[in-house]
Amino acid sequence: MITFRNNFDKVAEYYNNNAHAQKIAAKRLIEILKSMGESNFQNILELGAGSGILTNLIKNNFDYENIICSDLAYNFLKFNGEPIKVQCNILKLPFKNQSFDNVISSSTLQWIDDLDKLLKEIEYVSKKSFKGAFSIFLKGTFHEMDKVSKLTGFGNILEMKESRYYLENFYNNGFNVDFCHEEKHTIFFDSVRQFLNSHKMTGATVKANKFISKNNYNSFLKYYKKLFSIKNKIPVSYNIGYYIITKQTGK
Ligand SMILES: C[S@@+](CC[C@H](N)C(=O)[O-])C[C@H]1O[C@@H](n2cnc3c(N)ncnc32)[C@H](O)[C@@H]1O
Repeated sequence: MITFRNNFDKVAEYYNNNAHAQKIAAKRLIEILKSMGESNFQNILELGAGSGILTNLIKNNFDYENIICSDLAYNFLKFNGEPIKVQCNILKLPFKNQSFDNVISSSTLQWIDDLDKLLKEIEYVSKKSFKGAFSIFLKGTFHEMDKVSKLTGFGNILEMKESRYYLENFYNNGFNVDFCHEEKHTIFFDSVRQFLNSHKMTGATVKANKFISKNNYNSFLKYYKKLFSIKNKIPVSYNIGYYIITKQTGK
């Protein structure tokens, strides 16, 4: 059996310098909120806030009363400058019914296996007039790595979902999707090795319980370059979904 785990707690100090795609995801979410005319929030809960990439953007772009940053990874939260931080599993939120006007999250929901459970938690802690804003990595992210991994036996990628999966789950859990947008981004690295190192330092790696030899690794470097390099640069694709949701009336 293959078991996976991420490494967020271990790489917290290196995360911000390597989280290129996560920075794009957070920045675009802010741009979308602004383009929808949002200017001030009230009580915000941020899910998987980590070291605060989205938190800082919210702080610099909007007025709000309070922001509570939640995350499972203690080491990550240590780097988050907000005063109210709660270390918890977001699948078991330690908050009272109807505590928040807004629930936001960037680059986190793709890690959640039980989305139904999370949405029930969000539904419980949010007020009737709630607005949620999420950026989520979707299927298609790391499609190059996926292909080369299958070919060479080196590396694994997190199984990510299509946008439709999130739309259905939002709707089935009593939310309207007021806005949704899927966007592809490509980041170029100087070498496959540089990409792998940078990816490792984001903590977003999934580890397989299987033996991987130096040969597998070398084949991975070789085939990634051979199949995908453009003018000697190494492209890495990301597919990110952006969602703004509210509660269905009567909920
Ligand atoms: C890729 S990081 C994103 C951090 C931050 N939102 C950003 O934009 O940089 C994903 C975060 O989700 C957190 N996370 C993943 N699963 C979680 C869970 N079940 N409960 C709480 N936090 C979780 C991780 O600890 C990590 O900090």
